[in-house]
Amino acid sequence: MGSFDNILGAEQTLFSNIDALDPDFIPKLLPHREEQQKYIATIIKPLFQDRPGTNLLIRGSPGIGKTACVKRVLLDLEEETEDITPIFINCWKQNTSHKILSEILSKLGYKFGFSNLRTDEVMNLVSKIAKQRKAIVFTFDEIDKAEDQDFLYFILEEIPKKSILLITNNKEWGSKLDTRVQSRLLPELLEFPKYSTRETYDILKERIKYAFYQNTWADEALDAITEKASDLGDIRVGIMLLKAAGNEAENQSSKKIIKEHAQKAIEKSESFKIKSDSAFTDEDKLILNICKENSGKQSKELYDLYKTSGGDKSDRTFRRKLEALAKKNIILIEKSSEDIEGGANIIKFKGF
Ligand SMILES: Nc1ncnc2c1ncn2[C@@H]1O[C@H](COP(=O)(O)OP(=O)(O)OP(=O)(O)O)[C@@H](O)[C@H]1O
Ligand SMILES: [Mg+2]
Repeated sequence: MGSFDNILGAEQTLFSNIDALDPDFIPKLLPHREEQQKYIATIIKPLFQDRPGTNLLIRGSPGIGKTACVKRVLLDLEEETEDITPIFINCWKQNTSHKILSEILSKLGYKFGFSNLRTDEVMNLVSKIAKQRKAIVFTFDEIDKAEDQDFLYFILEEIPKKSILLITNNKEWGSKLDTRVQSRLLPELLEFPKYSTRETYDILKERIKYAFYQNTWADEALDAITEKASDLGDIRVGIMLLKAAGNEAENQSSKKIIKEHAQKAIEKSESFKIKSDSAFTDEDKLILNICKENSGKQSKELYDLYKTSGGDKSDRTFRRKLEALAKKNIILIEKSSEDIEGGANIIKFKGF
């Protein structure tokens, strides 16, 4: 063996397709989610026979494939038929009925300016165009972030052939549904279970095949990342670490990703994420540190600590900041009681 056999040349890379590690990448196969995909397909199936579809509420903790699974089914649906139109809306990004309906209108191909229209005018247009479609599958991801439910009532009442898929990682959300909507929606419930360590391993191993050249990963490196992702119950973390470990190995011009690279990626992940994200203000960092030092405590206690540490924002703003951190997957907010407003939420620091 020559002295430089394990050294990567300047032009060489370990990544065969780095895009396969992007958050938006949807693999063709989602190991250990076959059953859930079949279930979602059965919800849509009646639309193929010109009958009304059923509605579905999908629940489960963050990073366990809810969004990926639905998007995979919708991509497969698009390949299968042009008769059923899939419309996917993220209610974190579009969080009011007006924004959601405008987005639907745009996804239905309406090209004229409508930014100044009132909600009822947008509704009229959606209604008109939607009726020209044979059937529509609406997906509202992060449905708990929608500030009102008028758009749901409208779709339930006005659009004849449709299925509605709702996705949330908030256990209590269903009980907060407006009764008028609830009685029309009557969704079936699909709970996504967490992955076991073995399943986490399988999924990450499969993703390596998409993203890296063959024989670039040492078993122990993948084991270390599997353990971290499995501890946090979050595949998203695992995928981010695959990329970080690959970069670590490349920086050291190594042809193989070994345990040390994985460990370095895991260690760096906490501080790096915080430093590198320019969106963090000093105040965000103060809140982050409080979450980190007090992981597992109630948000109310954290707010008190924030105040005594010099924070001057209102309880409401503080909660909004926590939600933003949760969205970035840096903390986990566990709703421990029905009383969400009361602040009885447990905050767990995840490290990302
Ligand atoms: N079974 C699987 N096979 C392949 N990749 C998966 C699988 N499950 C999850 N992933 C990947 O893990 C990441 C997180 O999954 P996803 O975005 O679907 O999580 P989620 O359950 O919607 O989480 P959240 O509640 O935070 O939105 C994505 O990159 C997704 O592609
Ligand atoms: Mg999601």
